[in-house]
Amino acid sequence: MSADSLKREAAARALDFVEPGMRLGLGTGSTAKHFVALLGERVRAGLDVVGVPTSEATRADAEAAGIRLATLDEVPALDLTVDGADEIAPDLSAIKGGGGALLREKIVAAASARMIVIADEAKWVDTLGRFPLPVEVVPFGLTPTLRAVEAAAQAAGCPGPARLRRTAEGHAFVTDGGHFILDLALGRIADPAGLADRLAAVPGVVEHGLFIGLVRLAVIAGASGVRIETA
Ligand code: A5P
Repeated sequence: MSADSLKREAAARALDFVEPGMRLGLGTGSTAKHFVALLGERVRAGLDVVGVPTSEATRADAEAAGIRLATLDEVPALDLTVDGADEIAPDLSAIKGGGGALLREKIVAAASARMIVIADEAKWVDTLGRFPLPVEVVPFGLTPTLRAVEAAAQAAGCPGPARLRRTAEGHAFVTDGGHFILDLALGRIADPAGLADRLAAVPGVVEHGLFIGLVRLAVIAGASGVRIETA
């Protein structure tokens, strides 16, 4: 079965957790895109929910799917967020931001009573870090911020280079919030909480892609079926 089919299976299973009247955070990425499309089918069949998208891309998908949308200012407390992840570990800590939406994803997740990650089996890892950690930074002072991010990783016991994310055309990738992304290649993050604290303390860092203590449940789709993981 292809990775995309597994993503769709995980997304379909997550629909079981959606109830009428819920206020939903809508994630970003190829797995979350399946969830939005499947949720749209339910909405067109009569399900009443309101969604808060975590990116402009998801906003467009959700609008096209007919899902009623709101902002976090209109609906500040959400019942459930369903989103993908780049990596997820057995304690349900995760790396997110491969699609560059980590800032809005984390704000929406933090505003939600519950966050569910949906993923194919390849995202399930013993230890976070093989996937380069996205760190969202302001463009001003990029070079000293990049150096400070690398120093923070070194001090947290997981040294590795940070690279400015670029588009296929070679331009700096710009997030929905107008920021840049540094991708931090660490290999193995032995102490995610320690690294998170050090990164958050760097001036110029807006947010990092470590999601710790936010995910309550993971729906993991693999060749042998879909399983539910809880922390
Ligand atoms: C978006 O910024 C990311 O956090 C995605 O949720 C993550 O990269 C997973 O994306 P896929 O579902 O496309 O693998």
